[in-house]
Amino acid sequence: MEMIREHRKYVIPEIITGDNSRMYAGRYTRNFHSDRVLITTDDNIFRQKWIREILQSLDESGTEYVIFTDIEENPRDYNVMAGADAYLSEECTGILAIGGGSVLDCAKGIGIVAANGGTIMDYIGVDLVRNPMPPLICVPTTAGSAADVSQYAVICDPAKKTKKLIISKSLVPDVSLIDTIPLMTQPETVTINSGMDAFTHAIEAYVSNGSSHFSDMLALESIKIIAGLFPFSGDYTNDPGFRFQSLMASMYAGIAFSNAGLGLIHAMSHAIGALFDLPHGLASSIVMQSVIPYNYSSSNRKYRKIADILGVSPDLFDDEKIVAAMFEKITEMRGRPDDLVTLSEYGASADDIPYLVAHTASDPCIATNPRIPDVDDLSRLFERVL
Ligand SMILES: [Fe+2]
Repeated sequence: MEMIREHRKYVIPEIITGDNSRMYAGRYTRNFHSDRVLITTDDNIFRQKWIREILQSLDESGTEYVIFTDIEENPRDYNVMAGADAYLSEECTGILAIGGGSVLDCAKGIGIVAANGGTIMDYIGVDLVRNPMPPLICVPTTAGSAADVSQYAVICDPAKKTKKLIISKSLVPDVSLIDTIPLMTQPETVTINSGMDAFTHAIEAYVSNGSSHFSDMLALESIKIIAGLFPFSGDYTNDPGFRFQSLMASMYAGIAFSNAGLGLIHAMSHAIGALFDLPHGLASSIVMQSVIPYNYSSSNRKYRKIADILGVSPDLFDDEKIVAAMFEKITEMRGRPDDLVTLSEYGASADDIPYLVAHTASDPCIATNPRIPDVDDLSRLFERVL
């Protein structure tokens, strides 16, 4: 693999992996001198048994806590602002985020506003967060978003039906406690959508214009692990091995994309997610079906490598056949072999395409896609999965 000797910057948090690593929460609040934390989570998570050990670790370390659960899927700007109000009025000195991507992104938003003032929409864009956030400890409960290791947060503006990205070194959490146990009771649909999200992170980071030896290494390892895990459909309640592997795949892909950037799958998926309020991993796996064939020619060598890892026969030299075979593998991964998942299943029609195209074209993820689409390309890409 060719190494490029230009200057590159990499950001990753402190990470602890392994069963019951969530129990380090109290030790870290003490390390960070956070004697009163805002626990950001959701009601369903807060009812789980395994959360008790987290609260116990806070009690043992003498950390007080305030619970904030007013967070929706695809977190809204007003969820962030309500959380920031709670943080400031309760005089918290740190955040403990326990949840999937929506909860973790909302926690990052709360930290930004608490430390910088204004509204969360003031920080949409790249490197606009001036003051560092309060200490942020994350316990991810899905294996997909990787918000616990990334410098990204996605916040919804429901009035404008848009999803906006905040990218800043300030958003890298202080520590991620990557624990298998919170995932053990996760429903199948969440496992599938999260797994597909991790897979799209790995692919987009690998073919990104911003990729590097470091990010490629992590992205490829993630794809390798995922290839051994799919189909994601099935009951993994009693399979800690599956859960741990899926967390590792998500973490590797997350560090890769956080440092290399994403691409067209995410740009299109953000537009869809905002308009139809779909789970992010589902939206990404729908558009992946049109983006991979579109991108293939621009990053031929890398897509061949992905196909090879997915077990698509290495003696295939016809690119069209490779794309078709990858496609089969990917539909198999979702547990719906030979079946295109379409946007119309979720209420989309041709009338929505101009809106989706306009929002995709202005998404910052498009900048690192290996092929830059024009408006006609984008319309065709959406039509293909309608
Ligand atoms: Fe994603």
